[in-house]
Amino acid sequence: MITIVGAGQVGRSLAQGLEVLGKSVRFARRQPELAQEVGLQRCAVGSDYVILATPFMATGDVVPQLGLETGQVLIDATNPFGRGWPAGYNGADFASGGEFVQFLAPQAHVVKCFNVIGFEHMNKPQFPGGKPFMPVCGNQAQAKALAMNLATDLGLDAVDIGDISKAALVENMGLLWGALRDVEGSRDFAFSLLRS
Ligand SMILES: NC(=O)c1ccc[n+]([C@@H]2O[C@H](COP(=O)([O-])OP(=O)(O)OC[C@H]3O[C@@H](n4cnc5c(N)ncnc54)[C@H](OP(=O)(O)O)[C@@H]3O)[C@@H](O)[C@H]2O)c1
Repeated sequence: MITIVGAGQVGRSLAQGLEVLGKSVRFARRQPELAQEVGLQRCAVGSDYVILATPFMATGDVVPQLGLETGQVLIDATNPFGRGWPAGYNGADFASGGEFVQFLAPQAHVVKCFNVIGFEHMNKPQFPGGKPFMPVCGNQAQAKALAMNLATDLGLDAVDIGDISKAALVENMGLLWGALRDVEGSRDFAFSLLRS
């Protein structure tokens, strides 16, 4: 069972992609509505892994509640922008949101992934130019491999760019994505990595 925290645009897009892949998925929400949904408190317990898809400003409250177990994988799809900052977050202490999430869950293996593409194209993207580039970073090799395999199965060009200190790079790419959306007047684009 994979638990997705936050049933918003990103959470639902990833859930749809995972279900097509034959995975069992459930949402953890502030106010569960459906039978297969659970609350946030200790939702990680018994999960194969957890995907964080909430606003960054909620991470300080949300992550400590999840009950993440030692060695459990937390895939962090958040971007550290939007309205306000999370509880306990001091920008001077953290170079990136990904490092803040790892700080909040030191027992878990945090992997940053899925933050540089619009939710519409996170599962089975169809671009004539090829697969969208998806940089992945985290401190633990097996946890990263899990996220890379997932991103690859969803149709993305997953690339391991290093440890969680690289999260600042990909979060800036997320900002760049937002600037391009405004310039292009569209969300139907993605980054790609050209190789010769
Ligand atoms: N939108 C994109 O294309 C995109 C792409 C890449 C990355 N991201 C990042 O992914 C994250 C989710 O984005 P999104 O577009 O899916 O946002 P969204 O549609 O607003 O969904 C976020 C979900 O998080 C939950 N939530 C909201 N406030 C919360 C709080 N204070 N405490 C706990 N849960 C809360 C809500 O789910 P419940 O109602 O289930 O509680 C909400 O549906 C953000 O960090 C964003 O920067 C977004």
